[in-house]
Amino acid sequence: MRTQVAIIGAGPAGLLLGQLLQRAGVDAVILERQTPEYVLGRIRAGVLEQGTVALLEEAGVAERLHAEGLPHAGIELAFGGRRHRIGFEATGAHVTVYGQTEVTRDLMAARAASAATTVYEAADVALHGFDGERPRVTWRAGGHSHELACDWIAGCDGYHGVSRASVPAGAISTYERVYPFGWLGVLCDTPPVSDELIYANHPRGFALCSMRSRTRSRYYVQCGLEQKVEDWPDGRFFDELRARLDGAAASALVTGPSIEKSIAPLRSFVAEPMRFGRLLLAGDAAHIVPPTGAKGLNLAASDVRYLSRALVAACRDGDPAEVDRYSERCLRRVWKAVRFSWWFTTLMHRFPDAGELGQKLQEAELDYLVGSRAAALALAENYVGLPFED
Ligand code: APR
Ligand code: PHB
Repeated sequence: MRTQVAIIGAGPAGLLLGQLLQRAGVDAVILERQTPEYVLGRIRAGVLEQGTVALLEEAGVAERLHAEGLPHAGIELAFGGRRHRIGFEATGAHVTVYGQTEVTRDLMAARAASAATTVYEAADVALHGFDGERPRVTWRAGGHSHELACDWIAGCDGYHGVSRASVPAGAISTYERVYPFGWLGVLCDTPPVSDELIYANHPRGFALCSMRSRTRSRYYVQCGLEQKVEDWPDGRFFDELRARLDGAAASALVTGPSIEKSIAPLRSFVAEPMRFGRLLLAGDAAHIVPPTGAKGLNLAASDVRYLSRALVAACRDGDPAEVDRYSERCLRRVWKAVRFSWWFTTLMHRFPDAGELGQKLQEAELDYLVGSRAAALALAENYVGLPFED
């Protein structure tokens, strides 16, 4: 089998890249280790930057997003028993609340409707020869070995994928911080507690009230890394969430049986560069951000924006200049989002080792943020998404 671009991973990064390439007339095959049902079963964030929405429009998969997505023009910060709104109006932009699961579902449907090949349950995917002119990918499926010859390999296989792991250690630098807590998340079919997302900093820890629709809520509380989902029956979860909110939100909270409950660790991670010969990394394969600020999917989309343009120029027009610029261009935007996600995480969580000074500084920064137009605008412009370079 032969294709122009072999895409490893059918998460949002791989699927979106596949769709953009397909529309530009570039041939790509996607190889995914899991089943489609498994991929759709992962619950992740649900806030899309305007640039992400624009890219989904370009990919022809924004119809349901426009019909069902909720535009949000601000967030609320809760601390000291009160809520303070940070509006996005001065940025001229807004975000759209629409679950990553739904984005993935729409992309899968578009791919299934096209003639493009997607191989699910591809085991033992291995990358070969990407340091030369003729890369290849091999895998096992249905008891047989398969091989795909290609011009480029796009590593969109997430943090635990094979793509980044295939790069020789001396060719890659990694930067990492693991935070000393996790997020315990609950999804339930109840109306959201408020029209906008509430990010709460409380002595008991961080909490977040988010949503998927007007009838489905997503709530999180900061928890210890040793905690287990089984220790958190719904009643205990909602008592803890209520305790971390301001009085008005706590009494407005409508609870209901959880339909999903999971604990996620928090990590900042960047791998540099994002290109190794004919292998290009995108999305979680190259970087991870803690979820505070919901940048993960948006960063994956911004990588794919640059990567799709670079691969179209290389494959269709024979111009490799954009591929040569890919890593540097991506990383400038990546590092700014990594910085913002680290900053927002540091501001909103209780750190076991903060000390009294750290605690006082956090309180001063929150007070500054809600009292200064300049500081609030800096949060807003990062939250709605920094501009792209062209
Ligand atoms: N071979 C084939 N596929 C693989 C392999 C492998 N060895 N390893 C991983 N995969 C697949 C995974 O099963 C998954 O479906 O690659 C896909 C990667 O998808 P994601 O982890 O969702 O990563 P990405 O597409 O970059 O999306 C980034 O997801 O984790 C969130 O916060 C993140 O929202 C962001 C988004
Ligand atoms: C979510 O809805 O899951 C969500 C929203 C905002 C975040 C993180 C997660 O910052």
